[in-house]
Amino acid sequence: MYDSGKIIAGIVIFLLFVTFPFYYNMGKAVAKPDPSVDTPVIKQMEKKQCIESKQAMKTLHMQLLNDWRDAVVRDGQRLYVATDGKSYNMSLQNTCMHCHSNKKKFCDECHNYMAVKPYCWDCHIQPKEGA
Ligand code: HEC
Ligand code: HEC
Ligand code: HEC
Repeated sequence: MYDSGKIIAGIVIFLLFVTFPFYYNMGKAVAKPDPSVDTPVIKQMEKKQCIESKQAMKTLHMQLLNDWRDAVVRDGQRLYVATDGKSYNMSLQNTCMHCHSNKKKFCDECHNYMAVKPYCWDCHIQPKEGA
């Protein structure tokens, strides 16, 4: 003998489980991150580009920031030469946030979506922004 009630319950739970990602994302479709690069400094740029390619920045900015911190804090080295030969002062506040002065509409836009919360702002000063 088998317990058909339990089997059906099992199937229902299984179906809920495998379709979870589908309906979990339904209400969120509109909330996909849309980081804005509409800042006063970026508006003034002739060629709107980041330090490295957009794709590289998207996937590697955490690594880049780590490398910068190590270079500054451990080696006292403050000059970063990018792949295109341009050089930058290795600073979170004075370089990244100079262009990306809209932290809420830029950094936070992605981070909130991905549920990452960089602790950098415990010490580093964030740009002043309206609410
Ligand atoms: C000189 C101005 C400038 C500086 C400095 C700068 N950025 Fe950017 N950043 C931009 C612009 C402009 C874009 C958009 C590039 C594009 O669309 O090709 C961008 C794109 C990005 C992106 C990709 C966004 C997306 O939609 O995928 C990330 C992430 C990023 N920047 C992070 C940083 C970080 C972290 C730093 C400091 C290490 C930094 N940026 C420094 C101007 C800058
Ligand atoms: C295009 C989306 C996007 C934008 C824009 C973006 N980030 Fe991120 N960031 C991510 C993602 C995704 C992660 C998590 C990566 C992982 O866990 O592997 C991350 C992780 C980080 C981390 C590491 C956090 C940790 O706890 O490991 C730092 C630091 C960081 N971002 C800084 C910034 C700063 C500063 C800006 C704005 C100048 C910025 N990011 C803009 C997507 C973005
Ligand atoms: C406990 C405090 C603290 C936290 C948290 C912290 N930093 Fe720092 N950071 C410092 C100090 C102090 C310096 C040295 C400042 C200097 O010499 O200019 C520094 C320097 C840096 C530098 C190079 C200099 C500059 O002006 O930016 C970078 C890049 C940096 N940190 C990135 C990060 C990132 C990214 C995070 C988060 C993942 C982070 N820091 C979290 C305290 C902190």
